[in-house]
Amino acid sequence: MKTAQEIRQAYLKFFESKQHTIIPRALLVPQDDPTTLFTGSGMQPLLPYLLGQQHPAGTRLTDSQTCLRAQDIDDVGDNRHTTFFEMLGNWSLGDYFKREQINWVWEFMTKVIGLNPNRIYVSCFSGNEAAGIPKDTESAAVWSELFKTAGIEPKQVELGTTEKGSKAGEQGGRIFFYGDKNWWSRSGSADYMPVGEPGGPDTELFYLYPEVEHNPKYGEKCHINCDCGRYIELGNCVFMEYIRVAKGFEKLPKQNVDYGGGLERIAAAAIDSPDVYKISLMWPVVEVLEKISAKTYDSHTTSIRVITDHLRAATFLAVDGVVPSNKEQGYVMRRLIRRAIRFAFDLGIEQNFMEQVVAIIADMYQADFPEVAESRQRVIDVLSREEKLFRQTLRKGLKQLDKLSEGGKLDGAAIFALYDTYGFPVELSSEEAFVRGLELSADWQKVFDGLMTEQRKRSQTAAKGVFKGGLGGHGDIHKKYHTATHLLYKALRETLGAGVVQHGSNITEERLRFDFSYPSKLTPEQLKTIEDTVNEQIKRDLKVSWAEYPTKKALGEMGAMGAFGDRYGEKVKVYAMTPDGADKPYSLEVCGGPHVEHTNQLAEHGMRFKIIKEESSSAGIRRIKAVLQ
Ligand code: ALA
Repeated sequence: MKTAQEIRQAYLKFFESKQHTIIPRALLVPQDDPTTLFTGSGMQPLLPYLLGQQHPAGTRLTDSQTCLRAQDIDDVGDNRHTTFFEMLGNWSLGDYFKREQINWVWEFMTKVIGLNPNRIYVSCFSGNEAAGIPKDTESAAVWSELFKTAGIEPKQVELGTTEKGSKAGEQGGRIFFYGDKNWWSRSGSADYMPVGEPGGPDTELFYLYPEVEHNPKYGEKCHINCDCGRYIELGNCVFMEYIRVAKGFEKLPKQNVDYGGGLERIAAAAIDSPDVYKISLMWPVVEVLEKISAKTYDSHTTSIRVITDHLRAATFLAVDGVVPSNKEQGYVMRRLIRRAIRFAFDLGIEQNFMEQVVAIIADMYQADFPEVAESRQRVIDVLSREEKLFRQTLRKGLKQLDKLSEGGKLDGAAIFALYDTYGFPVELSSEEAFVRGLELSADWQKVFDGLMTEQRKRSQTAAKGVFKGGLGGHGDIHKKYHTATHLLYKALRETLGAGVVQHGSNITEERLRFDFSYPSKLTPEQLKTIEDTVNEQIKRDLKVSWAEYPTKKALGEMGAMGAFGDRYGEKVKVYAMTPDGADKPYSLEVCGGPHVEHTNQLAEHGMRFKIIKEESSSAGIRRIKAVLQ
């Protein structure tokens, strides 16, 4: 029986023995990809290579990629969904294809890990007529041969949609054909892919836990894609050979394989447990929580799972340079930590416990990820600081909440007051209301949003220059500094990595000031690169434009940078700075404006962008002052 750490190692070695190069994981914060907040799959950092660019390490690659899927936050608590996980990956960049891939996955799962072939089930793509993409009979044929060698009848069943599956059920099948469910691209179904995105049919491998009984809550009958937990997906082979064009699909220049397998789920299957929290990369955290709280996993399963998942995620975010804040990655991190602390209340943990838990997590990973060892103390500090801050907020907020809800009711104005005065998170108010059985007024969200908008307007005029981007002045020089601020932010991320997150910004007639997360002092070389990058973009004369979008879309699929996480109203203004003729903007930020119309206006009268000071602002936060002169 192998530990999760051994399985990771065995996987990499296995593919190395098949002439793959082991490549290091990418950071959780994507480096060159402004379209998304987190690395959510192993293929994401490899996108350019799947589109045809040559990878320096060759055409066969393998890695274990740390992934974060913040959209799964509400599913955490069951036995298999986590926000943070490792995806074991292997890629063929125009090299091998379906036959080799499926054979290797089979060999790895059944021989190397020793999973029971009788409990393996697979799905294949049933085709998409409208898009002209045929049924994947080839993958099914390879699987059929493999099942036969294990003495298993490879009965094929046509399901088409998961809804059909829940009506028709398992039917003694082994290979199931689904439609959309077996098409993979980063943004989802074939019908919604943006132009330029690669994708293709996939074939997924599931493991049956026969002792888990189907729960009719998830549909009449069980099938391999049912969410009841009887079947758990372990891996997915994507045969990436299409690219979305304006009208339908074209074949990519090369046929690629993109495989991803969940390390935690495979490790759970290896110990024959449908519960991923039982594996060697999770259980030590569970145990320390049991110890601190003197409660058991069996009696407090959900809370312990949520805390375990969230703190693993927050730890790796900190390793990768993110610090808690009110925007973007930092906001998600803050939410994870604060949720973990709240769930710890259910265990009766009211004292600080971050340090103990993070130390355990670091212990589990540092042998395999040296960056975890190197950042150990810093990570403990980052999480502990947030813990302290949040406990203060909570104490004050909860007291206030008691007062504001004396009549058994909580309304939008009260929730706004808690948020505005005590920094008490909105989702916490609504959750507390639920826990305490308070009546939430029906229009609380609307009232809250209205007050929020008013407050923003007030702060724009009253607190001149304090609000993000210094919206106070509308004069020419203000506009210029404002535009320069966007360019600076982008240049910082390009130069220092996407761990850089804005913490504050302020503009006067004389200069701009910009605070951002970064662990160390910038070198003169880095400063020079940043300065040069901004001046280049000024010279490129990017066109500055804006449009309004639904907030979800702007911060989600469009990947606009934004300072207030999900605290915006329904719609936001998004500023784009785009090179002439390009369809993709250089910079995309949620912002109230105003800005200049063309970046070259910043170079009027021979002016250049110049950094005049770089200093520490607070722990983990750097401050830059810059001028146009
Ligand atoms: N990129 C594929 C996935 O995430 C392997 O499922």
